[in-house]
Amino acid sequence: MKVLLVGGGGREHALAWKIVQSPLLTQLWCAPGNPGIAEFAGCVAIGAEDIPGLVGFARENGVELVVAGPEAPLTLGLADACAEAGIPCFGPSAAAAMLEGSKAFTKEVLDAAGAPTAAWRRFDDPVAARDYVRVRGAPIVVKADGLAAGKGVVVAATLEEAEAAIADIMESRVHGAAGASVVIEECMMGEEASFFALCDGVRAVPMAAAQDHKRVGDGDTGPNTGGMGAYSPPPAFTDAMRDEVMTRVVEPVLAEMARRGSPFRGVLFVGLMLTATGPRVIEFNVRFGDPECQALMMRLKSDLLPALLASARGDLSGVELEWSADPSLVVVVAARGYPGAVTKGEPIGGLEKAAAIPGVRVFHAGTAQGADGAVVASGGRVLGIGATAPDLRTAREAAYAAVDALDWPGGFCRRDIAHRAL
Ligand code: AMP
Ligand code: GLY
Repeated sequence: MKVLLVGGGGREHALAWKIVQSPLLTQLWCAPGNPGIAEFAGCVAIGAEDIPGLVGFARENGVELVVAGPEAPLTLGLADACAEAGIPCFGPSAAAAMLEGSKAFTKEVLDAAGAPTAAWRRFDDPVAARDYVRVRGAPIVVKADGLAAGKGVVVAATLEEAEAAIADIMESRVHGAAGASVVIEECMMGEEASFFALCDGVRAVPMAAAQDHKRVGDGDTGPNTGGMGAYSPPPAFTDAMRDEVMTRVVEPVLAEMARRGSPFRGVLFVGLMLTATGPRVIEFNVRFGDPECQALMMRLKSDLLPALLASARGDLSGVELEWSADPSLVVVVAARGYPGAVTKGEPIGGLEKAAAIPGVRVFHAGTAQGADGAVVASGGRVLGIGATAPDLRTAREAAYAAVDALDWPGGFCRRDIAHRAL
């Protein structure tokens, strides 16, 4: 089978690594890919958001499955354009990708599905929003309704913070049009976990759970990031919780999406708060998490490709996924300054030495090929150092030994990935 993978980050490196292990694969291309992916796939210079370019390439090259890594091409209609061209695509239609694109839409679907989530209200008017938070009191959560690159959420400990967030989002428009309206939510307490389920529009197959580390600094301090590390499985997320999330969240949400005429295919990323009264939904994403995907792929024993194809074709019946009992973790190595401005172009040495450590896999995220062929840093999150071992402590030691084998003074990482489980 000929496959086109869309994206070029650490998540896509992990997906490419699994896909090339499939005996069904004849050829893999990645658009745009990265130097890590280029070691085993053809990287083509088409942007992940260039929908006509991607579909045109797929047609000309007889691609039999398009796999979307990030959400942007999905919200722009990649799956719809593939459907028109008669090419199966792993990932939802633009209409179903609204589960990531709009927080208010997601809350409506959750309520209609009867799924456990925080009480909420949506406001187009900052005055009404402020009145509401004064009535509800703090702590309270203020969210820009639209996509704000993961930065549109303020968990306000005080009323002043909540009111400042409303002013920033709705009046100063710090996230642009995404702040035309806000969603104000009850603040849920507990540990967070991300759970993933493959969906075909009707059925869902549970994958595994992982725990991300969103803050940039050790001990969960500093600004939010795209994720500084992840591990799987998180011990706080039990098998009973998984079953509860499948029956109370994933299955009813699939039914509700189908009822609305936009059935969900692809991977549903369920962001959960594990509260004292059980798991409750924080948010959905319509793609794998990054870096959660890297941790998941290191534990997946089954062939990924037929499962992706079955989801894309709308028939997951008979698909079951087998997971290694060995835990995995991934430590993100970022360029100094991340999540703010970073320096690009610095060479990264020691990659082979790091990859030679038993149990370790180096995933490229924000790297590029320098003029002399050397791998250089070219983004915020630059590498993901994955490791797996019979126990989490050993996996963590291996991952940090690999980090220490790198020769890149401009990089930094959190030193406490998986601290909640150790
Ligand atoms: P989101 O972009 O919706 O995932 O929110 C980003 C982060 O804000 C989440 O990972 C949580 O840590 C936090 N958060 C969002 N909604 C709530 C809520 N209702 N209660 C508590 N924390 C929340
Ligand atoms: N690591 C969080 C995300 O992918 O959204």
